[in-house]
Amino acid sequence: MNDAATRPVTAVILVAAGSGQRLGYGMPKAAVPLGGEPILLHALRGIVAAGVASQVCIALPAADAGLRQLIEDFRVELADGGPLLTMVDGGATRADSVRSALAAVEEGTEAVLVHDAARALTPESVFHRVAQALANGASAVIPVIPVVDTVKTVAATGGNDADIAPLVVTGTVSRQELRAVQTPQGFKVDTLKAAHEAAAGFDESTAAAVTDDAMLVELLGEPVHAVRGASQSLKITTPLDLILAEGLLEGPLGARWVEG
Ligand code: C5P
Repeated sequence: MNDAATRPVTAVILVAAGSGQRLGYGMPKAAVPLGGEPILLHALRGIVAAGVASQVCIALPAADAGLRQLIEDFRVELADGGPLLTMVDGGATRADSVRSALAAVEEGTEAVLVHDAARALTPESVFHRVAQALANGASAVIPVIPVVDTVKTVAATGGNDADIAPLVVTGTVSRQELRAVQTPQGFKVDTLKAAHEAAAGFDESTAAAVTDDAMLVELLGEPVHAVRGASQSLKITTPLDLILAEGLLEGPLGARWVEG
């Protein structure tokens, strides 16, 4: 087992190019204020505090001058003490944004952690668990949490049943085997590149079904390992998520330091 001193040279890809329409702020999600600071700044501070990366490649909405200035200011704040910050234009889909950032990763990088800027409060411990699994030899590793709700499959009801309710249950999935998946997702750089090269040839419906990078590695037939995530690493998507994140920040110790 490798310790932190022998970890591979690692870059973080921070995808922050989403529109954030579901939050309804009329601005890119990364710019939406959380506890008085943009979501993107929380995410960046978390990555720097975790100390796992020598470079952070940030995919931003094309032509968003405000977020670019935010990163310039953060660069000044870090002085010479932090990772290299690289900005790229994101794409139409999350996978496109990851590909843009991957192309800007420095020569000599051995491992890449792909992280959603929308997971602004991911604790350092999650970054460490993912990085450690890579150092221990995993080619792909994801943070996961148990699913607390019972999960069922449903279908549209036919005939008269539609008068009772729009859907009918077709089965119940065993919760034992289910996990909800978070980021950062960690990869050997060659594995992530191969996965995204394969994805470039996907037809539209297959491409639309891909919701994370680990899925691309699964499609290559390579093993994906899982470590413990954290519930406060929620992806801020809806106004309710933002309220939750605000509440976490106001907690007695600050969200980043609370496990669970
Ligand atoms: O839309 P969703 O919440 O699933 O996005 C997850 C992450 O991917 C967000 O941090 C978002 O900014 C990023 N994203 C991106 N480029 C896109 C779409 C989403 O960087 N075209």
